[in-house]
Amino acid sequence: MEEFQPKIVGFLCNWCSYAGADLAGSTRLRVPSSFSVIRVMCSGRVDPVLAATALLRGADGVLVAGCHPGDCHYREGNYYARRRFALLRKTAETLGLDSERLALAWVSASEGQKFSEVANTFTEKIKRLGPNPMRKKISL
Ligand code: FES
Repeated sequence: MEEFQPKIVGFLCNWCSYAGADLAGSTRLRVPSSFSVIRVMCSGRVDPVLAATALLRGADGVLVAGCHPGDCHYREGNYYARRRFALLRKTAETLGLDSERLALAWVSASEGQKFSEVANTFTEKIKRLGPNPMRKKISL
């Protein structure tokens, strides 16, 4: 039997987390191939509807990652992201989605190792949860 390979969507801010992911890749750290990265200018630009839509369309997990609090290049974007993420988790549960399939992380441009750890830990968690039940309800 084939091992479950989750599909994970990662919304990464351009200035920190995307650069951290890039550093992880260029230093040959292990990053799961299950990650589909969407580069956004700031974690504060991630509309919760986009994250919920990814889950509703069958993604097994969604990661939002941005600069550390206080380091956002647009000053308070990641504070907005943090508030929106809390709202997103509640909304996901209302929609019948498992909020454990959502994650928020702060990863700086110099933290390739941390990005690798976040990506691998989240992927293992999603593997334990199994495929998103929404996958069966929709045709991909
Ligand atoms: Fe990175 Fe705002 S620019 S979180």
